[in-house]
Amino acid sequence: MKRVTSAILPIISIDRRAAEPLHRQIYDAYRSAIVHRRLCPRARVPSTRMLAGELGVSRMPVLNAYAQLLAEGYFESRVGAGTLVCSSLPDQLAGPEAASTASTQRLSGARPVSIRSLRLNRDRRAPWHGFGAFGVGQVAFDHFPIQIWSSLVTRHCRGMGAESAHYGDRMGSVAFRETIADYLRTARGVSCEAAQIIIVSGSQQALEISALVLLNPGSPVWVEEPGYSFMREVLTLTGCRIVPVPVDDEGLDVAAGTKLFRKARAAFVTPSHQYPLGVTMSASRRLQLLRWAQNAGSWIIEDDYDSEFRFGCQPIASLQGLDSHARVIYIGTFSKVLFPSLRMGYMVLPPDLIDRFYSVRRAMDLGPPNFYQDVVTDFIREGHFARHIRRMRTLYGDRRSALVESIRQEFGTAVQIAGSEAGLHLTVLFPELKSDVDLAIKAARHKLWLWPLSPAYVGKASHQGFILGFGNSSAEEMPRTIRKIRSVLGSK
Ligand SMILES: Cc1ncc(COP(=O)(O)O)c(C=O)c1O
Repeated sequence: MKRVTSAILPIISIDRRAAEPLHRQIYDAYRSAIVHRRLCPRARVPSTRMLAGELGVSRMPVLNAYAQLLAEGYFESRVGAGTLVCSSLPDQLAGPEAASTASTQRLSGARPVSIRSLRLNRDRRAPWHGFGAFGVGQVAFDHFPIQIWSSLVTRHCRGMGAESAHYGDRMGSVAFRETIADYLRTARGVSCEAAQIIIVSGSQQALEISALVLLNPGSPVWVEEPGYSFMREVLTLTGCRIVPVPVDDEGLDVAAGTKLFRKARAAFVTPSHQYPLGVTMSASRRLQLLRWAQNAGSWIIEDDYDSEFRFGCQPIASLQGLDSHARVIYIGTFSKVLFPSLRMGYMVLPPDLIDRFYSVRRAMDLGPPNFYQDVVTDFIREGHFARHIRRMRTLYGDRRSALVESIRQEFGTAVQIAGSEAGLHLTVLFPELKSDVDLAIKAARHKLWLWPLSPAYVGKASHQGFILGFGNSSAEEMPRTIRKIRSVLGSK
């Protein structure tokens, strides 16, 4: 093990024999030093060359670690000053290790709410929901490794005994939860054990269970403005009070939320890739949000729906991994990394909440189906999952680049592109546009599925534009489709 200590270097230990790659070890050491105040805002960090020299490693892992820390907002670079620890990190950061303060929190018993009194969306299907370019939530269906999947399905069908035909573990199969825990610790920086995981039928059910356990009718809840409308539907179902909190280029504006409703019971957020604007929540905002939750005794529901696909740098580590006070409920899904009709997702719970969540989950449908849990467990354990994600990251990266280029070609600087660094959609803002909804309806007549941005707002929309999914549109078809969009938008 090699150790480096000097006036300007945090203590960085690297272990060449460890399974963790070197860039990850360097990243973790810096992140921990910043979060625990061993490195203060504006502290200068050594150049990559100097650190690589001191650690006796090549520059590449150091460059990768620095790029990630810059992308996540722990570092900032200033012309003439080099790289510094971000200056806008809050004064009080994560406190002592996992306190079980959550157990002392009174969880409210649910009061009945009349469904008839709720304003739920009754539209069966909005006109812009169609299959193909640029429908949101669609993956590269024709690139899914269907042969491998079919052989796993067949294997499990043939080997199916009485036990797998019977009711399974209400939380989800132990093997599946252990596999997911391994994956989340390694790939998403989530700190968890299998016992904290509950398998659900997609993020949507996870959001519903969270709302039922944590909220009462009338409970004030922060949601991102603009935000994910299906999340708001769940909140409407519980009759809670929705408090829209603006999102800026650092993510949810915690100070604005605190002004609007400091004692909100929970905040529902998408920190890795804000839906729909695509912002990555900065390190400083993450820490502010965690501090708010700790001080106000509130909960954070982290919807981490598509962060495996990040282009240009490593996926951003989860907010949950930064939480040392057990305030974050982490939600993940297989809808983007496999396919959405699988209806499979998971939630990672603070230990003190497991029993409450368990009883609500069991009351819903007794538990997840055994069959596809077994298939997905093998899909992951046999390496197909990691390979599929790697291949898809390249494919989606190409589709994203082709889309951005085509938009630039057709619309030039008349539009703004937001959130194209990750995920399977980006958002195009049209500053001059009067009604994105009218145009989306018009485009749908030409079988172009443009999701208007304005319905993503609870209040008056501050932007008009479209959310474009690129998961299911080939790079080759982008220029032609964008040209068609331009001609539809331009026609009377
Ligand atoms: C913000 C957000 N959360 C979650 C999901 C996935 O939901 P589910 O897992 O229920 O398919 C999506 C899908 O598009 C999404 O946009």
